[in-house]
Amino acid sequence: MAHDVVGTVLITEEEIKAKAVELGEVITKDFEGEEVVLVGILRGSVPWMAELMKRIDLDMKIDFMACSSYGADTKSSGQVRIVKDLEFDVSGKNVIIVEDIVDSGLTLKYLKGYMEARSVGCVRICTLLDKPSRRKVDIHVDYTGFQVEDKFIVGYGLDYDQRYRNLPYITYLED
Ligand code: IMP
Ligand code: MG
Repeated sequence: MAHDVVGTVLITEEEIKAKAVELGEVITKDFEGEEVVLVGILRGSVPWMAELMKRIDLDMKIDFMACSSYGADTKSSGQVRIVKDLEFDVSGKNVIIVEDIVDSGLTLKYLKGYMEARSVGCVRICTLLDKPSRRKVDIHVDYTGFQVEDKFIVGYGLDYDQRYRNLPYITYLED
């Protein structure tokens, strides 16, 4: 079972839920009286998005995008390919991109530019985790759940080779 092979719990399910309440309240205040579109980045954001959206008390729509990078070499050039595009017209909308983790920042930098090119009213970023030590590009993250060290994180949506997404906590793989 997946639960047996990864050990040290870095962040518990209770801590993640409490963080969703906290950030949900902040987002609710920031966009008071307005509508927001939450855009989850598949697949890692799914559990975090599910938790967060319930804690935002605003008029809301949700959509999803999926991206893939071109591989190790081209990734550093910021090349991101859109595998699944938005289904809503986001022009003039308040978009909140929901991510599992910000690592190099390349994916989010690309997505932010992508949204801006679609004339969004505003675009903000909400990530469950941030690994600032790995940043390659300057990107402003508006709402961060937790900062993590430079370890390979799995659980609560985050995978290694598509596995461990279902762990109900955040842990890391020993190398
Ligand atoms: P970035 O473009 O380098 O910021 O990459 C972000 C994406 O890489 C995330 O959405 C994750 O899918 C993946 N990623 C980065 N670090 C980790 C990690 O520690 N564990 C699992 N996936 C990760
Ligand atoms: Mg991801």
